[in-house]
Amino acid sequence: MNPIDLRSDTFTLPTDEMRRAMAQAELGDDVYGQDPTINRLQERAAQLMGKEAALFMASGTMSNLVATLTHCHRGDEVVMGEQGHMFWNESGGAAALAGVQIRLVPNDDQGRISPEDLATVIRPRGNIHFPPTTLVCLENTHNRCSGGVQTPEDTKRVADVAHAAGVKVHLDGARIFNAAVALEVPASALAQDVDDVSFCLSKALSCPVGSLLCGSQEFVDEARRWRKMVGGGMRQAGVLAAAGLVALDTMIDRLADDHANARRLAQGLANIPGLRLDPERMPTNIVIFEVDPAVAAGPDFIRALLQAGVQVTYPGQGRGAARLVPEHVALVAHDHLVAPVAVGQGGHQVAHGAAGGEQRGLLAHQFGGPLLEPVNRGVLAVHVVPHLGLGHGPAHLVGGQGEGVAAQVNGIHRVLRIQECQEQF
Ligand SMILES: Cc1ncc(COP(=O)(O)O)c(C=O)c1O
Repeated sequence: MNPIDLRSDTFTLPTDEMRRAMAQAELGDDVYGQDPTINRLQERAAQLMGKEAALFMASGTMSNLVATLTHCHRGDEVVMGEQGHMFWNESGGAAALAGVQIRLVPNDDQGRISPEDLATVIRPRGNIHFPPTTLVCLENTHNRCSGGVQTPEDTKRVADVAHAAGVKVHLDGARIFNAAVALEVPASALAQDVDDVSFCLSKALSCPVGSLLCGSQEFVDEARRWRKMVGGGMRQAGVLAAAGLVALDTMIDRLADDHANARRLAQGLANIPGLRLDPERMPTNIVIFEVDPAVAAGPDFIRALLQAGVQVTYPGQGRGAARLVPEHVALVAHDHLVAPVAVGQGGHQVAHGAAGGEQRGLLAHQFGGPLLEPVNRGVLAVHVVPHLGLGHGPAHLVGGQGEGVAAQVNGIHRVLRIQECQEQF
């Protein structure tokens, strides 16, 4: 059984068209600024973001780091939301390599930070005891806030406070096109009030590599030196940029399919006892839900899903208060799930995407409604976890379709009708 890989949209693979474009790309040495394909991609990126210039980067992490290096000096303070990717998931690069101190403010459920919170943490100038606040980092869509989106007005409100205090604003727009599609606005509208914006090609847009850092010409000229310093000066990188150009032409509009799949998955999951989520707060391709600790610990839940052929990810502690439970699980819909993820009324259908390569397909697994009713025995019929064989009994669900489920019962793999399951368990 091919696993259903919902860990991240970074698992997407280049399309045939991308591979052909890569093979045929016109190349030069980009450290000398002479790779025509890179130059075309950078111009296109700048235009899409409404900025003067853009710079090709190896990754989103490199874009965020280079933006920080470009805007800040060692000992400066950078303000960001407490759920920020830069804070959680970039190996402390801003502190270790840019030498900045990070100050956290709350994120709301869409990943917004409030202008009022920002105003209270920006340091007054001229006091030698204080690190100067030089940068605010925003994120749109917001990864750890369930792919939440910020409107152009949300961003403007925060940027106005920063700019009034002489503080620059960097937007980590790794998935900015998801936000643009969800909000039905051009990406440039989401970036118009920030000083620079980065976006990724290697997430839902299916490229193998790449991120673009966009801003004023002066900012990009300075960023180019920092990129060289951190080892990001690549030579015939047009071979990668060629895929990026195809992505910008062909992959943005289809993000709406990922959002629809994620929405249907979220709505179905919300019907399953023991899982907590609000589908209305998940406007793009990331679905994050809490697993009731009485049902399972997050890591056990994820292991059980894996055994059932579903790969998900685990954002770890601290999405609410700094605590270990309840745990959160994240699912990310992406290009390799091409048909709608179907989640039945009171039931549990999981999309079965043939992840990887050019294999694209989808098989819906339907675990019928009656199986989801709580029963005493805590085996297949209870919540989602026993469905997945979390050691409560001898049943281990391995798949299913229509009215039947495939299960391992006492180690024997067999297909059962729903009715039979109820009798068995
Ligand atoms: C919001 C956000 N920013 C930055 C990154 C880092 O991108 P990369 O993995 O290309 O370094 C990610 C990766 O998932 C992300 O979700």
